[in-house]
Amino acid sequence: MFEQGSWCAVPGLMIAIDGPSGSGKGTVAAMLAAAVGLPVLDSGLLYRLVGHVALARGISLQDETALAAVIDTLLSEVRWDADGVAWNGENVTAELRSEQVGAAASQVAALPLVREKLLGLQRELAKGGAIMDGRDIGTVVLPDAPAKFFLTASVRERARRRWSQLKGQGGSDLDTVVAELKMRDQRDAERQHAPLKQAVDAIMIDSTTMRVDEVVDRMLAVLQRRGLIRRAT
Ligand code: DC
Repeated sequence: MFEQGSWCAVPGLMIAIDGPSGSGKGTVAAMLAAAVGLPVLDSGLLYRLVGHVALARGISLQDETALAAVIDTLLSEVRWDADGVAWNGENVTAELRSEQVGAAASQVAALPLVREKLLGLQRELAKGGAIMDGRDIGTVVLPDAPAKFFLTASVRERARRRWSQLKGQGGSDLDTVVAELKMRDQRDAERQHAPLKQAVDAIMIDSTTMRVDEVVDRMLAVLQRRGLIRRAT
């Protein structure tokens, strides 16, 4: 079913894809976006950006007020384009993907004021239609999205995927990645505000033994059945 540009989405369609770290949300969202012609918004990147700026400026990851002030100025300092994310003119895409920034993102994401500030921003960005991936998109950010998916995979498989990405950069061994992932899962699922949780109306897809194109095909089938996409003529 998957083929680039082979589908048309109804105007303004919003699709939520949530799931834990390493479940493949980003890859799947990008492929789905290419198939149906919608932009992708990776909400994790926003939390990562806040974490990155905090680390770069020496702001405590618990200082809600200072972090909220960072978010207020963020939009004027950031540019997003096909090359990635630039902060104050410097391309920081690779830094944002690092384990260190991921861990910082997970900490700032637990703060209610940070989440509140980023909520309005995410809704603004999704206006006009988008595929948005994250942890609370189906439950909090876009609760009225007509299509919601919850993507998951076993912790070992998610760690293996992350580890093979990091290997080329001299990253940690597999057991360390498993341990770090478990810690991140726990923090994301147990935090008080907007924890990682499957929306009641989300469709769960366990990708442990699935190829990415199989996951995308399953999503396309759901969207087609619901009349949210049709074949491009
Ligand atoms: O998906 P990711 O690894 O890029 O996300 C980085 C961190 O941001 C992750 O630990 C949880 C947090 N996050 C969140 O709390 N809510 C979102 N919608 C997206 C990410």
